[in-house]
Amino acid sequence: MAESLQGLHRSHRCTEVTNKLIGEKVTVMGWVQKRRNLGSLIFIDLRDRSGILQIVFDEPKVGTDNFNKAGELRNEFVIAVEGVVQKREAAVNDNLITGDIEVIASSLRILSEAKTPPFPIEEGITTKDELRLKHRYLDLRRPDLQSKLILRSKVCSAVRSFLIDEGFIEIETPILQKSTPEGARDYLVPSRIHPGEFYALPQSPQLFKQLLMCSGFDRYFQIAKCFRDEDLRADRQPEFTQIDMELSFVDVDDVIDVNERLMAKVFKDAIGLDVKLPFLRMPWQEAMDRFGSDKPDIRFGMELVDVTDIVKDCDFGVFATPANNGGSVRGITVPGQGGMSRKKIDKLVEYAKGVGAKGLAYLCVNEDGTYKSSFAKFMTEEELDKLVNAMGAEKGDLILFAADSNKIVWEVLGSLRCELAKQLDMIPEDEFAFLWITDFPLFEYSEEQERFVAMHHPFTMPYEEDIEFLISDPAKVRAKAYDIVLNGCELGGGSIRIHREDVQAKMFEALGFTNEEAYERFGFLLDAFSYGVPPHAGLAYGLDRMIMLMTGADSIRDVIAFPKVKDASDLMTEAPSPVDDKQLEELFLSIKTT
Ligand code: AMO
Ligand code: AMP
Repeated sequence: MAESLQGLHRSHRCTEVTNKLIGEKVTVMGWVQKRRNLGSLIFIDLRDRSGILQIVFDEPKVGTDNFNKAGELRNEFVIAVEGVVQKREAAVNDNLITGDIEVIASSLRILSEAKTPPFPIEEGITTKDELRLKHRYLDLRRPDLQSKLILRSKVCSAVRSFLIDEGFIEIETPILQKSTPEGARDYLVPSRIHPGEFYALPQSPQLFKQLLMCSGFDRYFQIAKCFRDEDLRADRQPEFTQIDMELSFVDVDDVIDVNERLMAKVFKDAIGLDVKLPFLRMPWQEAMDRFGSDKPDIRFGMELVDVTDIVKDCDFGVFATPANNGGSVRGITVPGQGGMSRKKIDKLVEYAKGVGAKGLAYLCVNEDGTYKSSFAKFMTEEELDKLVNAMGAEKGDLILFAADSNKIVWEVLGSLRCELAKQLDMIPEDEFAFLWITDFPLFEYSEEQERFVAMHHPFTMPYEEDIEFLISDPAKVRAKAYDIVLNGCELGGGSIRIHREDVQAKMFEALGFTNEEAYERFGFLLDAFSYGVPPHAGLAYGLDRMIMLMTGADSIRDVIAFPKVKDASDLMTEAPSPVDDKQLEELFLSIKTT
């Protein structure tokens, strides 16, 4: 039968009981990790969020009733123990912080009994994810997950203290917002009071933080929940958290400066890392050309090389066709892999096809200087030499080529480069390589919508010298936008905003919005700007991604207390779920069944 505390107060967490307390009385509370009966003595490993403490029950010291009770303790029972700290006589455990002491119990209270959990509460178990997520509250008892969430809290605290010292003001923005489709799909919330009308959950506090700049707050931040109805991946959840900020009277360098210092503070406080400042800055075009990615992992080489000019006039149609039709042919050199088996190369080809390639051509430079290649028969010896030379390949190296539109070639080689680095163990594990990607294109062409869409969002400022091309040549316009990238992951992004009405009008025109359409969606922002708006800029980090990278987790799921799975459901609460007809009626909704 479970007992109450009856006035008992916890004096220490488990690992706060150290050898400095030898001889003193303590009261500890927690979960039973393990029980061992050794005849006249019973040992309990007691667990709380701080770690493990050994409790000893000795019948003469604890009394027969309590001794018998201790003998029946089972894993995960919640107990309270009073006792005296003593040095361990034997079995000193160097793996535990408390490994040289133990508590000799003088009382025992069972606060809660526990059923046998569906999986053991310990590290390194092979239980399937589904079962663990269904009982997330049990999985969260594991020290590994606990330490990640504790680190997350530390990061938030470091962020708050740094930004407040820098003059930022923390302000909450609404969760029930107006839907302004642009970007990901919105989560909608039906209105009961306005039949047929909907709120949207925020994809980010973007418009509100810009309004706060109009109001004169100058420097805003928020640790904000955001919602995006998009497909889940390891670094994407439908609800996630941003460290969001906006600043007035600044340009790119000011935003970068305060954010580099923020990163230095946060990484130092959270994981003791000395981050070297300033971070590298790389224009978007260079990142694509060298790494095939706008979030390059620069911890290893294998950079892309453009060989389009060399193969333009060759007889190999796979290369010559895209080379002469606005596409490109590029390669990566994989050091020391010239002897890779045909089977393994075929696997790489399959991988490349999986990320959009039509094929992947290879050339091995043999140890004797001869070549083995999937396309040698289509090329002269001289052309092959030129290719190998341009690729900087040496004897024993493997070269992989992709030929297609630039977009596909970048995607294929950019992904392949990372995949190979992983397979070949080329990534230094404990390095943190930050960099800024700058000078993004302002627009990208959407084949689906057959129009230019904003690459970041429609309030991003173009470079002054590019403004004249907004209508005549949108593809050429560079944005005053920046992403912060860490180890191949987009940690955050932001931009200088448009505060000039003339530029904003041209921007909407380039995006294909009429004045009325723009006003319909963003009228409140345009109105606000018409009453005096400071030049402003901002940035938002994915907090979950930051913690994932700090802790080396494989997925942001591991750093979110109650995450969703791939189909966006919560296995524990079984959300989303049907609702009563009465609830639907109140909202003037009915469900279409076909
Ligand atoms: P953006 O859309 O680039 O910018 O988002 C900023 C950062 O948020 C993180 N992120 C996500 N994390 C987890 N799951 C998701 N589904 C997800 N989507 C985005 C990423 C990303 O870099 N308002 C602008 C910022 C600004 O201009 O100030 C914005 O939201 O780490
Ligand atoms: P094929 O003539 O289709 O047999 O292709 C000859 C070689 O070129 C094979 O090794 C293919 O994998 C490769 N290949 C085909 N398409 C491409 C492409 N778009 N880029 C690079 N290599 C390709």
